[in-house]
Amino acid sequence: MDTDKLIIRKPTSDDDLEKIAELLYNTDPYIYPYWFETLEKCKKELPPLLLEDKFFFSLKHLYISIDSSNGEIIGLVCIIDKTAELDYDYSELEKKNERYEFTINNYVKELINEVENADFAYISNVCVDSNYRGKHIGQTMLSYIIDIYKKQLYDHIVLDVLADNPGAIKLYKNLGFEQFTEIFAGFNDPKKERPEVFSMEARFDKKK
Ligand SMILES: CC(C)(COP(=O)(O)OP(=O)(O)OC[C@H]1O[C@@H](n2cnc3c(N)ncnc32)[C@H](O)[C@@H]1OP(=O)(O)O)[C@@H](O)C(=O)NCCC(=O)NCCS
Repeated sequence: MDTDKLIIRKPTSDDDLEKIAELLYNTDPYIYPYWFETLEKCKKELPPLLLEDKFFFSLKHLYISIDSSNGEIIGLVCIIDKTAELDYDYSELEKKNERYEFTINNYVKELINEVENADFAYISNVCVDSNYRGKHIGQTMLSYIIDIYKKQLYDHIVLDVLADNPGAIKLYKNLGFEQFTEIFAGFNDPKKERPEVFSMEARFDKKK
């Protein structure tokens, strides 16, 4: 697919929320399979939460890419900025089951603490549908979003990446991101070994 045929925009409640849930699920091989157990459960359980404005993965914090030739959603980025209101009440979700409780307390709330008073925009999820990878869709989508944030005078964007994800690391380096932390332990099922993760940042000249 030609990136000229790509429409990048914020999603609405009329979009295919199950597809959005699927792309979020596929952004990380540890977090979402632990949290929701299966893709099918994620596609049922995540869509109503996406409609909650203060939920971390709310539609408000997402951009989607659409293949204009067939209308399909083929990519997604979740980015949290200073305007995000993140005080969703997770108490009911925490009661749902132990996987929800563990993920909310050891991933979602940790992220919220990290980004709440930060002076940067934070990219928490990037995913391109597996049928469309390697066609510069991820790069086009992220360049588009980075330009929006540069125009809003943000001076840097931060993200975390799995150390064993060379494809994503290449993509981020192409866009000017550099590693700025040591490797630390990422999220996983508490019964399993935690993956190696590091943070990358792209810094911009505010005057540009
Ligand atoms: C990582 C991901 C978003 C890349 O999206 P994409 O649209 O396939 O990437 P692009 O085509 O825009 O590639 C951009 C650059 O990264 C490189 N790249 C992307 N995926 C790669 C891979 N698997 N192996 C090697 N290089 C890769 C490309 O070669 C390209 O560099 P080049 O122009 O110098 O050749 C996509 O593979 C994906 O969704 N993966 C699963 C979810 C994931 O890992 N998300 C990142 C979480 S931090």
